[in-house]
Amino acid sequence: MTTHTARDAARQRLEELRRLIEHHNYRYYVLDDPEITDAEYDQLMEELRELEAQYPEWVTPDSPTQRVGAPPAAGFTPVEHRIPLLSLDNAFDTEDLAAWEARITRMLGHKPSGYVVELKIDGLAVALTYREGLLVRGATRGDGRTGEDVTANLKTIRAIPLRLRRPVNLEVRGEVYMVRSAFEQLNQEREATGEPLFANPRNAAAGSVRQLDPSITARRPLSIFTYTVADVEGAPRPATQWESLQLLRELGLRTNPHVRRCATLDEVVETITQWTDLRHQLDYETDGIVIKVDRLDEQAQLGATSHAPRWAIAYKFPAEQAVTRLLDIRVNVGRTGAVTPYAVLEPVRVAGSTVSRATLHNEDYIREKDIRIGDMVVIQKAGDVIPELVRVLPERRTGEERLFQMPDHCPVCGAKVYRPPGEAIARCMGSACPAQLVEGLIHFGSRNAMDIDGLGPAVIRQLVERGWVKDAADLYQLRAEELAQLERMGAKSAANLVAAIERSKGRGLERLLFALGIRLVGQRAAQTLAQHFGSMERLRQATREELLAVEDVGEKMAEAILQWFGEEQNRRLVDRLAAAGVVMTAASQAREGTPLPWQGWTFVLTGTLEGWTRAEATKLIESLGGQVVGSVSRKTDYVVVGTDPGSKLEKARQLGRPVVDEATFRAMVEEAQRQVGSEVTPR
Ligand code: IVH
Repeated sequence: MTTHTARDAARQRLEELRRLIEHHNYRYYVLDDPEITDAEYDQLMEELRELEAQYPEWVTPDSPTQRVGAPPAAGFTPVEHRIPLLSLDNAFDTEDLAAWEARITRMLGHKPSGYVVELKIDGLAVALTYREGLLVRGATRGDGRTGEDVTANLKTIRAIPLRLRRPVNLEVRGEVYMVRSAFEQLNQEREATGEPLFANPRNAAAGSVRQLDPSITARRPLSIFTYTVADVEGAPRPATQWESLQLLRELGLRTNPHVRRCATLDEVVETITQWTDLRHQLDYETDGIVIKVDRLDEQAQLGATSHAPRWAIAYKFPAEQAVTRLLDIRVNVGRTGAVTPYAVLEPVRVAGSTVSRATLHNEDYIREKDIRIGDMVVIQKAGDVIPELVRVLPERRTGEERLFQMPDHCPVCGAKVYRPPGEAIARCMGSACPAQLVEGLIHFGSRNAMDIDGLGPAVIRQLVERGWVKDAADLYQLRAEELAQLERMGAKSAANLVAAIERSKGRGLERLLFALGIRLVGQRAAQTLAQHFGSMERLRQATREELLAVEDVGEKMAEAILQWFGEEQNRRLVDRLAAAGVVMTAASQAREGTPLPWQGWTFVLTGTLEGWTRAEATKLIESLGGQVVGSVSRKTDYVVVGTDPGSKLEKARQLGRPVVDEATFRAMVEEAQRQVGSEVTPR
């Protein structure tokens, strides 16, 4: 076969793959009805990625691989909405609805010929612009007239087609949202990594869309329901809202299936009544029902005020509250050691489910609301997800109520509970607290900490469950025969893991301090402390004054360090690590602890290299501390160019990023390897 036909075949396969992937995206994300397994889908994506890596000149913006792009360099650009995104007037009961109908009837000279009733999705309004079927822009609502250009982020949402099924010009509006289950999982993950939690799915969706880095948005499970055709060219204009929704579906956009066409206001009210309870069964949040005049000519006749259309109204569901008794206040120990109080309630039904727990946030919240054990309390589902204790009913007190005392020792491990001055959250100081253990070990073995290859969350969970590992020092006692008994762990990977654990002993004090997860001691602080004190022993002996004398160490960090070493189990952990042979001195003493030469550098590869495959080059760069990303941005440190480079080279030149050829790259590699004394050599 000549190269020419091989190229043709590749081209054909590439196009077929894109079609297939878009089709399965549509089945999965728009219709919720997949035809293939996730693994099969991943395989198609992988094949496409490989082909595109081979022929970078064929990458187009609507390729399924292009959903995650580079962050915008200077924040989001403002977008003027050609057609403003209005808000909605509210109705709170049937009387409000009747008054609305009377008003529009007067204006039209007759009753509207019918309504469309939709769920009001509690998310974030966005405007999408398609040109000749291609998604060219996505923007937030902003103040309704000016929003922000979040195209790169919206492209990561797979329910949003990058190409419509027909080459129309379309301006469409919809609501981006996060399903409840994904929201809960996201919050669990954030708890584990010590990030602040989102209060409700709407905030989580909004926060995700307004992320500067699209790769973060891409990891957030977002979806969309579109509901308004603001403008269309190239397809017959719909005459009604009902037809608009139909058109959106035909074009491949996702719409909410729960819509009803109602002839009269009585039918509207009946629909609202049904949804008041039924909505709790949905996996996404709704904060009301939107009632729209169906015919677009009637809509046009009614027009809009400066802030809302007259032809639509939002019926708001009442906030659901219930009264019950507060039986007890207990504390929960999170994986970062946060000790948070929660209410144990006499079970009560509210917003579609039985509630027996409510969050109390922290000690101050309990004091401010004067919450006492035994009180009758009003609870509410905030955003319908996390039950909240709104207020107590002091008039129903009997005198038997008790004040709550925050425990001074962790109920899980017995270590001290400490609340840093000026902070709301109290924390368990025990490093071996089982509640914190798994997450702590994941952090200990992570790349920037002790960098233990093969010590993933699944392995750690098994080690903790079997009781083999009670703290980080236990890792150094593990034997390959033991490890080989774990699920999905062969003799070879067990041996590799033991070797990786062994290698981690020499990382040096900088990484060790970071790995220990002392509160507020991040990578930078760990480095400063290690360099300043030189050894673990000297740091352990340091007084408050000595700590404060270190550059960048403030009151809070000094206090956190003193607290940490003040805890007996932490001191024992350090001693056992030392006994296992873990290096306790700083990089000047421990050469393995020096940061890698390319730490923090970002590379982009384009074209074919002679000496390395793409995977090999990536591995090599990573072994020297750098990272490889898919596209050029202002943050790119080097663009490595082989033969037949793609558009990335052009982009690099546009952005003025350094471009190096293979020979220069090889020289850089050799230099870096000399610095680390490493043996990784190119082919
Ligand atoms: S129509 C001009 N339909 O509610 C009227 N809005 O409070 C445009 N929303 O900004 C809105 N679901 O973000 C419409 N099915 C739905 C909706 C919906 C949620 C949001 C939208 C709007 C807000 C108004």
